[in-house]
Amino acid sequence: MSRVVVTGRVPDAAIDKLRAEHEVDAWQSPESIGREELLRRVAGADAVVSLLTERIDSELLDAAGPQLKVVANVAVGYDNIDVPACTERGIVATNTPDVLTDATADIALGLILMATRRLGEGERLIRSGQPWKWGMFFLLGNSLHGKTLGIVGMGGIGQATARRAKAFGMEIIYQSRSEIDPGIAAELGARRVDLDELLTVSDIVSLHCPYGPATHHLIGAEQLAAMKDSAYLINTARGPIIDEAALASALREGQISGAGLDVFENEPRVHPGLLELENVVLVPHLGSATVETRTAMAMLAADNTLAVLGDERPPSPIN
Ligand code: GLV
Repeated sequence: MSRVVVTGRVPDAAIDKLRAEHEVDAWQSPESIGREELLRRVAGADAVVSLLTERIDSELLDAAGPQLKVVANVAVGYDNIDVPACTERGIVATNTPDVLTDATADIALGLILMATRRLGEGERLIRSGQPWKWGMFFLLGNSLHGKTLGIVGMGGIGQATARRAKAFGMEIIYQSRSEIDPGIAAELGARRVDLDELLTVSDIVSLHCPYGPATHHLIGAEQLAAMKDSAYLINTARGPIIDEAALASALREGQISGAGLDVFENEPRVHPGLLELENVVLVPHLGSATVETRTAMAMLAADNTLAVLGDERPPSPIN
């Protein structure tokens, strides 16, 4: 029997699955586990099931000890994990791809609709109690049909977002490290371009790339200036891909028309400049937040953990 530490609350089904074979120490409070408490609890663990809010670095791996075999992140993004530090120590790191693709693409479309149709503004107006009535020019937004969606990062979530956007009558272009499957590209009518072209041509830019040194502030003042002044920027990937201060200023100056953000540079803090603006939709990192998806993510993390502890290849290794 091995010792599994779970760093935050996850659906019971996953805990039950782990507990059937191992001793499980799961953090149960709705508050995040503090760093000191986390370092104390991981000592002697064979497996750590981590949430994206916890930093898994050399300090933590050393605090756990040399018996640690696996870090199973309950997220597709793994910028919270120092993967090379895991690899150096022979620790397997895993994530939860695929199971959250549809939920995250749904949120991207939700943000696109909210931003282009000004749904947040409308909601705030009604709740404020201000008088309103139907008007020919009241809260006009922009249509999606015939517009161009530029997808940055055409992995599973980017492709799922493209598929939805196509159903809304949009044209798809994308920037990605590699060409996508030609059959899928043909089905979506998607053309690969470089980032400069994507930024200048797109009516909506949606970010779906992983976060790391190569994508830190990928969208900054210069890139925002290259976008159309009628364009919208959507981010369901990771906050620091956008320079938030530059975005606040571009939105304030009317350099772009609007934005929809599910993720932020310094979560849970949101740049104060964004909070003052009407033309940005702000939602609190809800990309995978459905009961079904969170359960599937936790079950996949449990499967990854059990596989490594059983000396088998896990379903979704990172390293
Ligand atoms: C959520 O942000 C994830 O990476 O799964």
